[in-house]
Amino acid sequence: MDYRPLLNASKLPDVKTTIFTTVGNLAKEHNAIDLSQGFPNFEAEEELKSLVTKAMREGHNQYAPMQGYYGLREQISEKIESLHNRKYHPESEITVTVGATEAIFTAITAFVGKGDEVIVIKPAYDCYEPAIIVNGGKPVYVQLDAPNFKIDWTAFQRKITDKTKMVIINTPHNPSGTILSKWDMEQLEAILKPTNIILLSDEVYEHIIFDEQTHESASRFPDLAQRSFVCASFGKTFHVTGWKIGYCAAPSELMAEFRKVHQFAVFCVDHPVQRALAEYLKNPSHYLDLNNFYQEKRDFFLNGIKSSKFKFKPTQGTYFQLLDYTNISLEEDEVIGKRLITQNSLASIPISSFNVNNRNDYMLRFCFAKKQETLEQAIEILCSL
Ligand SMILES: Cc1ncc(COP(=O)(O)O)c(C=O)c1O
Repeated sequence: MDYRPLLNASKLPDVKTTIFTTVGNLAKEHNAIDLSQGFPNFEAEEELKSLVTKAMREGHNQYAPMQGYYGLREQISEKIESLHNRKYHPESEITVTVGATEAIFTAITAFVGKGDEVIVIKPAYDCYEPAIIVNGGKPVYVQLDAPNFKIDWTAFQRKITDKTKMVIINTPHNPSGTILSKWDMEQLEAILKPTNIILLSDEVYEHIIFDEQTHESASRFPDLAQRSFVCASFGKTFHVTGWKIGYCAAPSELMAEFRKVHQFAVFCVDHPVQRALAEYLKNPSHYLDLNNFYQEKRDFFLNGIKSSKFKFKPTQGTYFQLLDYTNISLEEDEVIGKRLITQNSLASIPISSFNVNNRNDYMLRFCFAKKQETLEQAIEILCSL
């Protein structure tokens, strides 16, 4: 077998091992404190885990319905309606997915084809572009600038052409921790109104938002809602990233196309976990308390590093904090990020990997979804630099 002709025709020639894997492996090798990848190092609630066990013992161990367990879809529908005042019908407008990643991939695959343009706001989480490219589409970038990472809506509008099929937004935003305000969403709504462009709204950090601010979901804005796939992740909300379960909400016409792809990509999602989540969601404090829980962690981390040489703006949402290291070094972020692991035993993510042309913003991303003692150890290292 000659593999060369196959590999030369790779559909994703530019995709390499992700920065998360590279950094994660180096962190393990050096036994470093790992604030790189976005997952908690503390346990999920016992109650949630017991509910999964209960569902398994009660025999919910075979395929779930393709769209998701109806009881879970009902709970999701009620949650969205109570928070954002928009009714998504559980039968036709909500699908349970294998994490937000599957929701994003499926929405893109259902609509983006050869030659279609998709606007991606950079820095961006890394799963959007491969999904666009593998489907023959073309990412068109809007690069945001540090330290505010605000969208210039006039510049954004200039990127729209008659080939634009979709726009992807992410609020609260990974890696910058900024959020889109009501005003931002209204600008987007006005720009998209005269078009047939689909909005893919990645809202996986919807319940991690600080300082009494509101999450402005695309579902709150009538004209955006009618063109949007709103993608969410239970992994992020309930400290169970390893369960890979999320959901997608969209108007029934769009959702019908989404389900054609979902049906043949995964068919359905882990059944006992869906049963458990349907029960767990009945108590809204399980997700409404998350803002305070993570705000305490953010404040603890930032208070701890107040006297360090790092500069920062407190993150507004997500469990990531960017730190500007220009008072310490003017090297590439990958260089300093690597040295922090190998010499100081602390892992973070260099954000150049999220930027157009790997632009260096002299910033590292730290995940504070960690136990108190892990944060204390990280603070000590950061203050020693
Ligand atoms: C912005 C963003 N979108 C999507 C995902 C993927 O979510 P899930 O683990 O539910 O697939 C992540 C995970 O880190 C993320 O940060």
